[in-house]
Amino acid sequence: MLGKSMELINEEGADELLQAQTRVWNHALAFINSMALKCAVQLDIPDAIQNHGKPITLSELVSSLPIHPSKAQYLYRLMRILVHSDIFSLKKVGDDPQHEGYSLTPASRFLLKGNPLSVRPMLLFWVDPVPMEPFQCLSTWFQNEDLTAFNTAHGKCMWELAGENARLNNLFNEAMASDCVLACGVVMKKCKGVFEGLKSLVDVGGGTGVMAKCIAETFPTTNCTVFDLPHVVSGLQGSKNMKFVGGDMFESVPSADAILLKWILHDWSDEECVKILKQCKEAIGRNGNIGGKVIIMEMIMGNRNWDENSIETQLFLDMYMMACVTGRERSEDEWAKLFFAAGFSNYKINPVLGVRGLIEVYP
Ligand SMILES: C[S@@+](CC[C@H](N)C(=O)[O-])C[C@H]1O[C@@H](n2cnc3c(N)ncnc32)[C@H](O)[C@@H]1O
Repeated sequence: MLGKSMELINEEGADELLQAQTRVWNHALAFINSMALKCAVQLDIPDAIQNHGKPITLSELVSSLPIHPSKAQYLYRLMRILVHSDIFSLKKVGDDPQHEGYSLTPASRFLLKGNPLSVRPMLLFWVDPVPMEPFQCLSTWFQNEDLTAFNTAHGKCMWELAGENARLNNLFNEAMASDCVLACGVVMKKCKGVFEGLKSLVDVGGGTGVMAKCIAETFPTTNCTVFDLPHVVSGLQGSKNMKFVGGDMFESVPSADAILLKWILHDWSDEECVKILKQCKEAIGRNGNIGGKVIIMEMIMGNRNWDENSIETQLFLDMYMMACVTGRERSEDEWAKLFFAAGFSNYKINPVLGVRGLIEVYP
């Protein structure tokens, strides 16, 4: 056996072999980036750095965190990998070049508890053991008949489990809500006109209503409805021009001038999307309503100008959708096919949301 292996290795090719081996090691261990980030957030390290008001030395950081004294010696190693991946940075403290302290980077500012744009809830959902378990079952799922790897892992689909498990429901709803503040702010800055002049709008799958609240406050004469599954909206209070309605978008969608679908269709297969879109088309055409539209906020894959980080993030989310739900991320062509299959005649993409876009779809 050893003799045979030795034949595979020659002096000239040895470095290449070792590099390829490191590549595989790196790929296999990449989950440690996610787990290190999760640990830092759970220990509130970004807030400890922020509260310090200037670069924080290791010993100051140790004293400010709720960690066991026996673990103080390990903190340096957690911080080292997070500095390596630009989550934190190291800055000089005073005149001594050896004396360094940790600072926040633009990325870790997004992890502060008090930041209204925080991605902390999204991170804590994405790396929670419940949605991560399907990734342990992917190869099993490829060989069985289950609808999703989530079903393989948990015996039911994600929406059903969220309906039964209050912790998962809250974690998921908070994650989604956290995404809406930045998304709505950017959309209102860059293409407010999309929402101008609407008498009514239904945010289908609108979760706990953060997006609809932002629209309702920006446009006080637009009546906004948040439509979501009963376990999501039950007990939530509306406002003067915003209300919550529970229901199932596959059965019917409340009528309005415009329907908003933010991060809905990527949860579903093409066939399911066409059903949802047909319900939306019916809802904007009901009661002789003409001139309505569907407003979609979703990832648009395939832009060759994206940087490597954006492309990889899109591919990660596509795999997330494959593992946890029946959906996928789509290219413009794939979106267009769905719109036309559901009977819409035209669409316009506003590339205003980073790796996502805002798509207006017309009957
Ligand atoms: C990925 S989340 C998006 C939430 C929100 N639009 C946002 O972007 O923050 C998908 C939403 O669809 C809702 N949903 C799932 N199935 C549904 C159904 N059959 N009818 C209505 N809403 C549904 C979920 O409860 C969840 O709030």
